Amino acid sequence: MRYFGQDFLQRVSDSVNIADVIGSYVPLKKKGGRYWACCPFHHEKTPSFSVSPDKGLYYCFGCHASGNVFTFVQKMENLTFPEAVEHLAEMAHIELPEEEVSEEERQKQSEMTAMYEAARLAADYFHNCLTKTRMGEAGLAYFQKRHLTAETIEYFKLGFAPPAWDKLFRDFTQKKQIAPKTLVDAGLVGYSNGRYFDMFRNRCMFPILNLKGKPVAFGGRVLDDSKPKYLNSPETPIFNKRRLLFALYQALPKIRETRQVIMVEGYMDAISLHAHGVTNVVASLGTAFTIEQARLLKRYADEVVFSYDMDAAGQNATRRALEIAGTVGLKIRVARVGEGKDPDEFVNLHGGEAYLEAVRQAQPALDYLLASLLRQYDPTSLEGQQHILQEMFSVLTARDDSFLINSYIRKMAQAMRLDEGLIRSEATRYVKKNHAKVYISPRETAEETVSRESQKQVRLEEGFLTYCMQYHRAPSSWAEMKAFQYTSPFCQRLAQAMEEVQESGQVLSEKAVQQKLGQDDIEALAALLMKAEDTVSVPWEEFVRPLKLGALQKAYKMHTERASTLAHADPEGSRREMLACIQLSREIRELQKKTSE
Ligand code: CTP
Ligand code: MN
Repeated sequence: MRYFGQDFLQRVSDSVNIADVIGSYVPLKKKGGRYWACCPFHHEKTPSFSVSPDKGLYYCFGCHASGNVFTFVQKMENLTFPEAVEHLAEMAHIELPEEEVSEEERQKQSEMTAMYEAARLAADYFHNCLTKTRMGEAGLAYFQKRHLTAETIEYFKLGFAPPAWDKLFRDFTQKKQIAPKTLVDAGLVGYSNGRYFDMFRNRCMFPILNLKGKPVAFGGRVLDDSKPKYLNSPETPIFNKRRLLFALYQALPKIRETRQVIMVEGYMDAISLHAHGVTNVVASLGTAFTIEQARLLKRYADEVVFSYDMDAAGQNATRRALEIAGTVGLKIRVARVGEGKDPDEFVNLHGGEAYLEAVRQAQPALDYLLASLLRQYDPTSLEGQQHILQEMFSVLTARDDSFLINSYIRKMAQAMRLDEGLIRSEATRYVKKNHAKVYISPRETAEETVSRESQKQVRLEEGFLTYCMQYHRAPSSWAEMKAFQYTSPFCQRLAQAMEEVQESGQVLSEKAVQQKLGQDDIEALAALLMKAEDTVSVPWEEFVRPLKLGALQKAYKMHTERASTLAHADPEGSRREMLACIQLSREIRELQKKTSE
């Protein structure tokens, strides 16, 4: 990793204005000495992200993201620290200091250059062998059997490795003058018992490209049922399996456009989908999904749709992948294409449009996970319950999102037919033990919550209206309260009557209100006025604010519930409900802040 001295870092940070840098990602508004924006690190509608050019720092009052210009670029672009420094130096037109390259480093660089070249030549070699030689006929027949067109073969530069033991080795060392060591280092050739041999023989070849579109490794498939079915290049200095995905280079434009990635397991799955016009598809490289791959995808996408085989292995792989993708904050769904089929078979049978429909209907990760755990473990046994809860908690606490876990607990209770309170206390135990950063709210049934809260609300509404009548005038905030929806239907009618009294220009007396109010409501009005204590002198706000607060909290609750009921059937609708919640919670906090001022 590159090391920059403190002086250079200072020069870079002095030459860029943090507000300009951040302003190039999100629109900033100046207020006083600070700039404000909607936070780029969490979803919000009103700005709580602030930037201070004087201090050279940023802070989000919503999600508490904070740092300086380097950490900002690091996070936004998903870069390492030295990469972020280089990025900013480039922005500021500052030349990077001459890198002190050791002899060793220089040597490594030139070896890598040779390996890139060898891999490039090998890709050409395999491709030529497939498309232009008699040796390749078997490979071509195989690809045709798997419905690939010449165009697709060309696009992915698929190839064929000849059956001979060391044909590539001999051609490359003799005709192309490549050092045997380079071929071994690049994973193309093996060496044992004093002999060099080709790693890939008699296999259909799938070149793996890096992000710049250069071939760095290969997957090779047998033509029959022999084993291993696939052989992959080993890790080499130019190929880090954990940081790359098959077809990512080809998929990038569409991923950037849609902010969505479809993850499949196999090379053939990715190729067939691309061939059918579904081009934001990448495949794992015969290994489990890694955190590095998740971070890489996060750079270009907001959502990953997993489309793994529906067998047990695929399900387990999906579960592990969900945890990883969740950790980096990618949204995740799981698509199903019918039992026992992989996406390759599916798309060849039903076409790209049908596959896209399955992607549209993909299940949100948590619902998928819960359903698959319920299939695997017996939710009626104590042991099964423990397994299910542990696995769910581990995913639910991967992000510090209290809203998520609290709203999901109710769903789990229903699906597992367990007492919600029990799950809450298990969750609390889990959180403590694992030092998770979420808050598990205490149990309360939906009905209890509603009735307790609305009783309180009705008392406030009655208090407010009584107060107005006692003073024979409406408060200045009356206008604000015009559109207010009263919980109690009686209060709603009473407020309407009071409104009419005022509009007619009369004094807002108990008598005048009585006249406007329908006969059926007189009893209730009487009870109200008689019960009322002697006039108290408190500011209007003491009624108005709690009233509004109660109404907002009620709405929040309703949207929360809708969000979790819709989560499965209508993810888009559910998202809208979530957005409403976020907006409401902001208003609630705003009001609470005013009250405590
Ligand atoms: N794989 C591997 N080594 C194996 C088997 C599989 O590296 N011995 C990797 C390959 O990347 C393969 C993926 O795992 O593409 C999925 O394997 P599998 O589901 O068994 O194969 P398919 O992709 O369905 O292969 P095909 O359709 O060619 O039979
Ligand atoms: Mn397959």
